[in-house]
Amino acid sequence: MTALKLLILGGSGEAADLARALDGDARYDVTLSLAGRTTEPAALPGKLRTGGFGGAEGLARVLGDERFDLLIDATHPFAVQMKVNAIEAARASGVTLLAIRRPPWVQREGDRWIMVTSLEAAAAAIGEDPRRVFLTTGRMELAPFRAAPQHLYIVRSVEAPSPEDLPPLVELITARGPFNVADERALLEAHKVEVVVTKNSGGAGAAAKLDAARALSLPVIMVERPDLPEAPYVETVADALLWLERAHGSTSSA
Ligand SMILES: NC(=O)c1ccc[n+]([C@@H]2O[C@H](COP(=O)([O-])OP(=O)(O)OC[C@H]3O[C@@H](n4cnc5c(N)ncnc54)[C@H](OP(=O)(O)O)[C@@H]3O)[C@@H](O)[C@H]2O)c1
Repeated sequence: MTALKLLILGGSGEAADLARALDGDARYDVTLSLAGRTTEPAALPGKLRTGGFGGAEGLARVLGDERFDLLIDATHPFAVQMKVNAIEAARASGVTLLAIRRPPWVQREGDRWIMVTSLEAAAAAIGEDPRRVFLTTGRMELAPFRAAPQHLYIVRSVEAPSPEDLPPLVELITARGPFNVADERALLEAHKVEVVVTKNSGGAGAAAKLDAARALSLPVIMVERPDLPEAPYVETVADALLWLERAHGSTSSA
């Protein structure tokens, strides 16, 4: 039996879960690719590749030279450039692509969401008056909030942000999800948060803050999903595993 050679574009919970699910399965030879933004990523099984490919062309070259059979784009919903590159590279190399695209969060009764389409708009939407803001957009995306320096930002990220990106008034929390509702509520209360700012990443791991904000009737400034390029996709790791079963079956019987 020849193992299917799989490249997973990661940086998301789904990529990690898929790598763990395929660990030890002799039908697949898995390489996980990370951009290298996090200096200490969570420990994962299997082969790891870190750093960019050099655009779609570079990725196509790696797919061809290293004889990958399948490309799984499991990047974060806001990682648009990599999704575009994955589509172009799959087309150029003739390698089959599957994306994992988790659904966005949707408003529920009791939510007080303010929808915006950019981080700049999110910063403006906090308003003129100084507020205490819980900011979970990620440490690379804090600079736009320097334009609204009157607010105090409680910034939570996996790793400490660079000081030059920070607005003047900050309290830093470094933590890696998943988070639960009771802890999120306690955090919002302890820091006297008045408004939450987040990107609509979707998924279970980061949703607890929305439940906590709803329970406390806090407004949430929600940065909407960017438009994503069309690609064949599934929404969950479980569906990706089913798709892989089928891919393996069709390849081994060919
Ligand atoms: N954007 C977010 O909000 C967010 C949140 C959580 C995690 N992440 C993860 O962080 C990484 C970077 O996100 P981003 O928004 O900066 O991406 P991006 O804008 O879509 O991609 C920028 C460049 O980073 C490199 N890259 C991205 N993902 C890669 C991967 N999995 N393996 C190897 N190279 C990768 C590629 O460089 P080359 O062109 O040189 O190949 C790509 O052109 C992604 O892997 C994403 O899954 C992003």
